[in-house]
Amino acid sequence: MSLNVQGLRKPSQVNSPSSIKKPIMSSLLFNCKAPINVPNSSQVSPQNSEQNLLKTLHSHKGSQVDVTNLTKLIKHNKSPTIEAFDTQNSQNSSQQQLQALFAKAREITSNKQKPQIVKQQVQSIQTQSINQLKELFDNDIYCRNTFYFHFVVGIGGFGKVWKVEHKKTAQVYAMKEMSKALIITKKSVNSVMNERVLLSQLKHPFLVNMNFAYQDRETLYLIMDYMSGGDLRYHIGRMRRFNEEQTRFFVACIFLSLEYVHECNIIHRDIKPENLVLDNKGYVHLTDFGIARVMKTENSSDTSGTPGYMAPEVMCRQNHTFAADYYALGVIAYEFMLGRRPYVGRSRQEIRDQILAKQVQIKKSEIPNNWSIEGADFINRLLQRKPQQRLGFNESQEIRQHPWFLNFPWQKLKNFELVPPFQPNRTEDNFDQKQILIEDEENNELIQQNLLVLKDPATQDLFQSYEFNANQNQNKISSTTDQSSSSSSKHSRNFSQKIEKQQYLESGTK
Ligand SMILES: Nc1ncnc2c1ncn2[C@@H]1O[C@H](COP(=O)(O)OP(=O)(O)OP(=O)(O)O)[C@@H](O)[C@H]1O
Ligand SMILES: [Mg+2]
Repeated sequence: MSLNVQGLRKPSQVNSPSSIKKPIMSSLLFNCKAPINVPNSSQVSPQNSEQNLLKTLHSHKGSQVDVTNLTKLIKHNKSPTIEAFDTQNSQNSSQQQLQALFAKAREITSNKQKPQIVKQQVQSIQTQSINQLKELFDNDIYCRNTFYFHFVVGIGGFGKVWKVEHKKTAQVYAMKEMSKALIITKKSVNSVMNERVLLSQLKHPFLVNMNFAYQDRETLYLIMDYMSGGDLRYHIGRMRRFNEEQTRFFVACIFLSLEYVHECNIIHRDIKPENLVLDNKGYVHLTDFGIARVMKTENSSDTSGTPGYMAPEVMCRQNHTFAADYYALGVIAYEFMLGRRPYVGRSRQEIRDQILAKQVQIKKSEIPNNWSIEGADFINRLLQRKPQQRLGFNESQEIRQHPWFLNFPWQKLKNFELVPPFQPNRTEDNFDQKQILIEDEENNELIQQNLLVLKDPATQDLFQSYEFNANQNQNKISSTTDQSSSSSSKHSRNFSQKIEKQQYLESGTK
């Protein structure tokens, strides 16, 4: 796709060829539409546990009770296995309560009491068990039917993003649907699996956090915080430029999200207006971790990204650090100030040639009215082609300490106590329905052409670990932006180890 000089068209992302992992094991049964939970060694299928309970309840002499309700309940829920019944590790109170009920039932039936008393006690346990089981199933099972679909709010490379509402809790979320056929066709399995792994470890108020992830035969589902304000591509398209106060506020929000992500030892690598979404008040949140990576000293071959925002060192296939994200931040601020990007071209090659030809700098004469010299200087320093000369290369404090942010109320921003200088429309849509339709049609054509790929059971193996439930995951790294640098580097190491361990464990299951 050509890049528009006015910076208003969506620049297309370029993925470096990613190798698709060869499945070692053939697929699990994927014919059901139910979500797939893969049990670990300490997990027991609920059916087994319930059968034990039923056996205990049923077999006691003189205490025959009606178990149809319980059986129906179990049959009704089609999930092949549920992560449950591991009392030692379980954080889930309903699982623990159910375990306690099982134990009580066993105790009653092993005591020699009058049949009538046993029957009453067993009946009461049965009722309680049904409630506990129901709660357990309700918590754990996610499928398309779990949500009401309101409308489409965005479109990504693999499918639509919906505003959805959880039927039981009435909680509103954004659901990113990703077609497995499209993912395979675009050779992006690593990217989507990587996104889920990274998001499972991240949580921060300035990110779009993941709440659940699950799949069915054709689609992966990522359930995220819902941002009703639209993305910054949509808004810069309508506004053409932002004023200095608005730009500084956006940059500050993006900086807070980046500072956290970098402390977790991750480079986002796809900072661009499409991946920055506004909440209903106007605060910016960072999304799309598809091509984010744990920082490695040798990463010259990681060249995915979006050409207009890609740092020169990435473009030129050199090793790169967190400063690559700050370069993209500079491009965004430049675009918001002047209504165009610093380097434009119709292809990656053209943009690269332009970057190599000269260092773009905002000249005094170009600074728009009502913008300060400090603002232009800040942007110029982020746009430095040599990463060592770029603001933020040594540490994030360099950005906070730049005169453009002198006396900036960082703490109030973090606490969401500021009134955002740009507020999204609360009554109208904040997205471009026409653009969504066009891209959706393109996606659908590709999906139809490539559906056959899903017939190969080995394909399903590639997506085996795509699942997540934030209610059961206490593992996330919380915000550490106030920590000292020594504890934050310890934190980064811990984070990298966790991610690597998780990636290793998951690749071992394939
Ligand atoms: N949580 C959200 N709330 C509201 N809108 C969202 C949310 N997440 C994404 N969007 C919208 O959907 C668009 C596509 O989402 P996203 O960037 O995650 O997909 P993508 O670009 O396909 O990602 P990938 O690089 O993994 O293909 C965004 O540009 C944004 O407009
Ligand atoms: Mg995106």
